[in-house]
Amino acid sequence: MAEEMRAVEPGEPAGWRRTDGAGLLRPGDAGREVVLMGWVGRRRDHGGVAFVDLRDRSGSVQVVFGEALAAEAEELKPESVVAIRGTVALRPEGTVNRDIPTGEVEVRAAAVRLLNPARTPPVYTSELPAGPGAGSTAGETVRLRYRYLDLRRPSLQRNLALRHRLVKAVRDHLDEQGFWEIETPCLTRSTPEGARDYLVPARNAPGRFYALPQSPQLFKQLLMVAGVERYFQVARCFRDEDLRADRQPEFTQIDIEMSFVEPEDVMRLTEELMAGVWKEAVGVEVATPFPVLDYDRALLVYGSDKPDLRFGLEIADLTEAAAGSAFRVLGEAGARGEVVRGLTVPGGAALYSRKDLDRLTQEVRVFGAQSLVWMAFEDSGLRSPAAKVLEETTVSALREVLGARVGDLALLVAAAPETAAAALGHLRLQVGGRLGLRGGKDLRFVWVTNYPLFEAGEGPGRLAAKHHPFTAPVAADIDLLETDPARVRARAYDLVLNGWELGGGSIRNHRRDVQERVFRAMGLGPREYTEKFGFLLEALEYGAPPHGGIALGVDRIAALMAGEESIRDVIAFPKTASATCLLTGAPAVVEPEQLEELGLIVP
Ligand code: AMO
Repeated sequence: MAEEMRAVEPGEPAGWRRTDGAGLLRPGDAGREVVLMGWVGRRRDHGGVAFVDLRDRSGSVQVVFGEALAAEAEELKPESVVAIRGTVALRPEGTVNRDIPTGEVEVRAAAVRLLNPARTPPVYTSELPAGPGAGSTAGETVRLRYRYLDLRRPSLQRNLALRHRLVKAVRDHLDEQGFWEIETPCLTRSTPEGARDYLVPARNAPGRFYALPQSPQLFKQLLMVAGVERYFQVARCFRDEDLRADRQPEFTQIDIEMSFVEPEDVMRLTEELMAGVWKEAVGVEVATPFPVLDYDRALLVYGSDKPDLRFGLEIADLTEAAAGSAFRVLGEAGARGEVVRGLTVPGGAALYSRKDLDRLTQEVRVFGAQSLVWMAFEDSGLRSPAAKVLEETTVSALREVLGARVGDLALLVAAAPETAAAALGHLRLQVGGRLGLRGGKDLRFVWVTNYPLFEAGEGPGRLAAKHHPFTAPVAADIDLLETDPARVRARAYDLVLNGWELGGGSIRNHRRDVQERVFRAMGLGPREYTEKFGFLLEALEYGAPPHGGIALGVDRIAALMAGEESIRDVIAFPKTASATCLLTGAPAVVEPEQLEELGLIVP
């Protein structure tokens, strides 16, 4: 007999005990009486009988309300929370749904209790509809405002579960390898990683501030001095920088540090960790060891220090082949101290319209290149804006280096080496996308090594650390620190996967004298570096062992595992591109008394 449906008063228990997860029922459960609790999904009415999808974390199942309960079923608004008592039954012939795991069964409801009615949700909780407007910024704004509803979508639930498995696999693996998980402070001093700090005013010391860590870098080094030898942390880091699809203001690192190691030791450990977590979290085999690519070569051949190796489209150096051409843009590039580089688009002559090429020209200008020279090799000969000035000998020399065939398109840039690399790196990715080469499921891990220790800093002649200032120089280059610091290479390594920088690390300066020489090469004087990093320099004098490590981005790994384009989709409560939280309204204004207490004056 149907029990009466009634709303449970606040605080009153449902009275029933849940027996099963909705998504776990299978034909073997047929005949069992079950109590399910969850959310109301789609409802369909068929001549007095109502079919309601009941959803919980485990999935969803179809619940059938016969005529006796039809009126109650009518009251079940989407996303309301209900308890249902009923019997599992095999679905009648012809109504089996092979697309869902519970598609062979249904639950015939005997009674229903409304645990909490829901207002009409402002966002979809089923998968997002495809088509115009779907995933639009406006839609996204509302979804972030109601993130707890957005998170009910099955794909986001899957992502949260995947992230959990990933982090658990990391902990298990590192535990087996003898690492200790140690927490380091969030209220600390600035830890330079190249971004702005988030500051927290100190109430007890007006005018003074804590900085939230950009990474646990200095503390993990101090843990090596402390004799910990193998440390890791699933660490929250904070960086006030421009946000993109792969960047959030707060994010999570798998932060690792080891004593008495060479780069190869950290790289092998990381490879095994990656292979282990990919297997544990998503059941995918990853081949190890990963290939190693020189930084210079990465820039030359792929135009990027985080190359996507799922496809070739390699960049060729054409400076020599073009030298002497009457087409001065190319012919005199070498003499101007520039390079000519280009890539071949197989079958591109017919694929790219004039409009496409104009658009690509605009795009390379963003990187500082003057123009894009394109050459379409057709049956009838060369088609190119430069066709009239380019001598046949030059064309065939270029074509030989490019390996271009009839039907191919060549894209050439003449510019300073860094500009040419950036512009062609961008073109390579654009073309790879257009040719459909970037969607593959291949996992192309690669180490990029032999970075320069420094890059151009702010102000003429100033150098900044390319990674962070605690990275050790290659031993053979140490004496260049004073004479030619721009040429010093770092004992650093970055891990790249399919064009994403997953992680970076290095061997550190464990001797005070070398660390001081690095600071000085960056133009820091003893007063400045002692003020900022005196505690580290001092620690290095008390028996600091040789040490090194790495940090891997959890959000990026999870996004790549889940096949998502943005790390937002693997973070429970992400921030917008302007670093706000639409759900809580952070950052928010505070009471004047709070400001006063902190000694702050806000204009
Ligand atoms: P690095 O600055 O390269 O190195 O950071 C390591 C990894 O952290 C991830 N990451 C981010 N993920 C999301 N949003 C961000 N804003 C963001 N910034 C960085 C990336 C990156 O590869 N202390 C050093 C590590 C070391 O030397 O051991 C460090 O933090 O995946």
